[in-house]
Amino acid sequence: MASSAGGDEAGALVLEVNRQRVVARADVGAPLLSVLRGLGLTGAKRACGQGECGACTVLLDGQAVMSCMLLAAEVGTRAVTTVEGLADSCADLRAAFADRGAFQCGFCTPGHIVRAEALLRDGKATDETQVRKALSGNICRCTGYTAIVDAVLDTAARRQGAS
Ligand code: FES
Ligand code: FES
Repeated sequence: MASSAGGDEAGALVLEVNRQRVVARADVGAPLLSVLRGLGLTGAKRACGQGECGACTVLLDGQAVMSCMLLAAEVGTRAVTTVEGLADSCADLRAAFADRGAFQCGFCTPGHIVRAEALLRDGKATDETQVRKALSGNICRCTGYTAIVDAVLDTAARRQGAS
């Protein structure tokens, strides 16, 4: 059986994904993104594969990371959360994306949702400048970004009002 610190000789890897312990088979050099998608968690997308588009964004111990740039074997015991794992906890953010028309093809949307949710949880979605800065590593080829930023700010305002 693999240890929780990474891969063993047989390529078995133990990870905590979306609050569940999972065992995956993976090459030593496999990026976390590939392992997640192999587990059927296909919300995180592979586009550039080199840390330049954000389509593969997931949370690692609550911090947004690009999973194409992280070796699965280096994740160890840190908690991985994919867009699937956010589920209802970001239903308001997803609804705001829909209300604002913040997606078209939708390819970038899971990455944007994950990164925006991390920003909202950190209480840093305070104004347009902060949101644009935080999302600057996530590329959208369809929307022009304004609707995405507006959706995040709408959600921040609603959460602030509800607290
Ligand atoms: Fe990971 Fe583009 S696929 S940053
Ligand atoms: Fe198409 Fe963003 S909605 S890339």
